[in-house]
Amino acid sequence: MNFSPRSHTCGELRSDHSGQTVQLLGWAHRVRDLGGVQFVDMRDRTGITQLMLDPQRVGETDIKAESCLSISGTVKPRDTANVNPRMATGEIEVEVSKVEVLGTAGVLPFPVSDEEQMRKVNEELRVKYRYLDLRRPSMLRRLAIRASAIKRIRAYLDEQGFLEVETPIITRSSPEGARDYLVPYRLEPGQFYALPQSPQQYKQLLMVGGIERYYQIAKCFRDESQRADRQPEFTQLDLEMSFVTQEQIIELMEGLTIEVINGLIDEFGLEKEKIESFTRMTYDEALLLYGSDKPDLRFGLQIVDATPIVAQSEFAVFRGTVEDGGKVRALRYPKGASQSRKDMSALEDHAKDFGAKGMAWFAVENQAAEGSRDLGNGVFIRGGCSKFLGEAEALALIAATKAEAGDAIVFIAGEYSVTHEPLNRLRLAIAEKLGLRDRRKLAFGWVLDFPLVEWNPDEERWDPSHHPFTSPKASDLEFLESDPARVRADCYDVVCNGTEWASGSIRIHRSDIQSRVFSLIGVDQETQRERFGHMLDAFTFGAPPHGGIAPGIDRLVMFLTDDDNIREVIAFPKIGSGYDPMMDAPSYIDPQQWAEMGLQPPSKK
Ligand code: AMO
Ligand code: AMP
Repeated sequence: MNFSPRSHTCGELRSDHSGQTVQLLGWAHRVRDLGGVQFVDMRDRTGITQLMLDPQRVGETDIKAESCLSISGTVKPRDTANVNPRMATGEIEVEVSKVEVLGTAGVLPFPVSDEEQMRKVNEELRVKYRYLDLRRPSMLRRLAIRASAIKRIRAYLDEQGFLEVETPIITRSSPEGARDYLVPYRLEPGQFYALPQSPQQYKQLLMVGGIERYYQIAKCFRDESQRADRQPEFTQLDLEMSFVTQEQIIELMEGLTIEVINGLIDEFGLEKEKIESFTRMTYDEALLLYGSDKPDLRFGLQIVDATPIVAQSEFAVFRGTVEDGGKVRALRYPKGASQSRKDMSALEDHAKDFGAKGMAWFAVENQAAEGSRDLGNGVFIRGGCSKFLGEAEALALIAATKAEAGDAIVFIAGEYSVTHEPLNRLRLAIAEKLGLRDRRKLAFGWVLDFPLVEWNPDEERWDPSHHPFTSPKASDLEFLESDPARVRADCYDVVCNGTEWASGSIRIHRSDIQSRVFSLIGVDQETQRERFGHMLDAFTFGAPPHGGIAPGIDRLVMFLTDDDNIREVIAFPKIGSGYDPMMDAPSYIDPQQWAEMGLQPPSKK
């Protein structure tokens, strides 16, 4: 097909182009018919220009929205009344002298040009016609932010002497806690490759291979249930370094993150505060203060341990919990006194959804109200469990939580480990109500010193908290067999706004320790050889001490675009339980392919 090359883009025309003849290529964004004259907003990657198609000049036209066009015409200044200050090209229009439709668009499944309407369109439909969805400037912008993030990451790491290395996609299982995606091996029926859950083992083997500083923008594959921030196929910035300490990895990651994010904020004019530093806490502190190992650090609202205060309480729920060896933990709810009984009961239901047996509360006031109790010095308490508490006890709870008149205090009592999640959720719900989850803020923090393993009560075994290649702290090594729960790992996460963003560790680089950790998590000697013999062997050939980390690229983009769903920042995402409605994948395969694979199709249900 014949079309002239573009002389200009649709986004660049201004009043000083007036009088020039231009050639434009792009799509009919919006079409309006005004008594024979068609006005078409023409769009390309850079922006939109208004076209005027007069039948006297170009003949009768019937341009359909989203058709692909080639036009030539003359740039004309608009009358003052018609200038559109909201459009970069709003001072001009192009009077078309020739129009060619390069690709006609049929009836559209959704109104591509209408951002407002698009918000209401069923997501499956958007993903099925993703190539149309991607034409929206807002989608293009997401991909542009993503591309620039990756470009900036590469520039930063290249500067620091990292080597980008690709590692295999069809390989064998590398455990990260999910199921593997398997690929049958045609030449040996019954054998399968696994797609990598991460390049973890390869990057460690690259360190044994003397690469010293590696990174990769790595596709990872995990067959696990989807969530708003989880896709079966996603991208990590995977990196690894030899001869490195935890402190050096922390420094590198902070430098990289600050440079990349602040650069993107400037480049795209993002409504975000620049980041300057990361906070740090241990895993134990994170649970103690926030009830979560991925706390939202945009606001305080720290959990207070009220156990010593209520140990002798008249309130049976509190006293009983302490007698049973449990904890009573409190959260100040600023301005919570104005919440109705119904609001409080909804909050309690929320806590119960996450494992609490109940939620106790009382309100703090500075004047008497119906049913309130006078604690003296102008302090009154009201509602919830206020009538069950001793005066000194109530005053001590107010002091410990720093509650003020107009606030409420909420309590979760129970076994320590069971109180975390409800308190975490209450903290987030309260912050949400108070508008403290500020979208302009990116609060990055390190969570350090994770436990090496966690007890899995269903399988009755120890599971790695991260993956089995994480190094136990040297000082805890002696407890590996005798008291695994107390062993901490040289392991660290980066969290941002309540989401885990990156995870990493110093690795085991000694065969004997690696083997002890495998044994601890229930991998017997024979299986160790069979599944991980290459790692155990590699560590006997002068393996350097090494460590690394892997932040999620998709999640990074989500932080910057304010998207609550990871699908928005992936060009071609999966929906539901791993379905691609555009390609209709996964799909059945031909009988011939079954035969080639030496496999039997499952019998028809
Ligand atoms: P981990 O499994 O914690 O660590 O993953 C690191 C980061 O990858 C991102 N991520 C995901 N993003 C989208 N969808 C998913 N399903 C998904 N799963 C993980 C998160 C997460 O923090 N090999 C180790 C890293 C290391 O030790 O160096 C690993 O993969 O942002
Ligand atoms: P109950 O004695 O179980 O009826 O509970 C009395 C009050 O204590 C109710 O307001 C419950 O919501 C609250 N409550 C019950 N269990 C807990 C708990 N584990 N933590 C905090 N409050 C609780």
